[in-house]
Amino acid sequence: IMAEKAGYKHFMLKEIHEQSQAIIDTFRSAVDLNRGEIRLDDLNLDGKGVAGIRKICLIACGTSYHACMVGKYMIENMCRIPVEVDLGSEFRYRGPLLGQDTLLVVISQSGETADTRAALQEGLEKGAVCRAIVNVVGSSLVRMAGGVIYTHAGPEIGVASTKAFTAQLVALYLFGLYFAVASGRLDRQELSAYIQELIELPRKVSDILARSEELSGLARRFMNCRDFLYLGRGILYPIALEGALKLKEISYIHAEGYAAGEMKHGPIALIDEQMPVVVLMQKGPLFEKMLSNVQEVKARGGQVIALVEGKADERIGPPENRFLIPESSPWLAPVLFTVPLQLLAYQIAVLRGTDVDQPRNLAKSVTVE
Ligand code: G6P
Repeated sequence: IMAEKAGYKHFMLKEIHEQSQAIIDTFRSAVDLNRGEIRLDDLNLDGKGVAGIRKICLIACGTSYHACMVGKYMIENMCRIPVEVDLGSEFRYRGPLLGQDTLLVVISQSGETADTRAALQEGLEKGAVCRAIVNVVGSSLVRMAGGVIYTHAGPEIGVASTKAFTAQLVALYLFGLYFAVASGRLDRQELSAYIQELIELPRKVSDILARSEELSGLARRFMNCRDFLYLGRGILYPIALEGALKLKEISYIHAEGYAAGEMKHGPIALIDEQMPVVVLMQKGPLFEKMLSNVQEVKARGGQVIALVEGKADERIGPPENRFLIPESSPWLAPVLFTVPLQLLAYQIAVLRGTDVDQPRNLAKSVTVE
């Protein structure tokens, strides 16, 4: 067993460290570097197919659902086409409006999740164009859908998803670019700049992994807290949800992810000295808005843990409460912010002595509705 874990204490930690490679493998399978092109042959959707699409539905469960939420930001901005996001367990009960001009994309690590399968079935019955982003070759969703983008994360054993998630974010980035080119919204030069960002991503992930120790002081300080709040805005809002989910899943600490702007409409009532608040601070137009969240938390005695893209800003708080994130394209920042949140959850869970790879009551793949 130790050999399978390649010297790591848990599969989860091994899989967190495999993320640079998972990203490389996922983009190598689709990017032709010589020709500067994105090729998604298994997706089975050419320029003509793309031209008929008026709306995209992204559907998944659990962590894969958070990837869908990020995908909405990416695809709507790259392609200027409306994107709806649904939970697999909700989709078919809301009477979704689907037709031949709808592209329905399900996202799943296992390709076997029952609720996601049911959503895909709904799409097939209503005549939508159905595709899948899946990690497991030949799984049910692949067999049902008319085409696939594979994430090349390799087998994921830890119940809490890590490398499959960041590989999904990369697959969605590739899908957005492919669709934007096919619909004439992106030219070669713009595409090559986007591809360059992707080429630089694995090294940035490795940089963060090499700095894991920087999080251990935070893990020790906060391991006995009862609740955590995670705040993000824009494309990092889903990452706040994912950070909170990781902590709940493996440490059994109650954690809530929230859109930072909504803090004043509820969670602010919970903030006191006992409450760590993890804030995700992306450079750009939303930075100052996040800073005002930080000030509101501090004014109520709350403890801020800040992940900050780029340079440290003195207004955020003492260095021991900060973790710096390398700068990247706004569409890839979600990958970089995810990694330290996985590490923080992992370190806290290990300190609390939980069964990290097989948390109580959870299953790797939920094949019943
Ligand atoms: C279970 C797993 C999660 C996963 C979710 C969706 O709840 O514990 O880690 O995100 O299923 O799984 P899928 O295989 O469809 O991505």
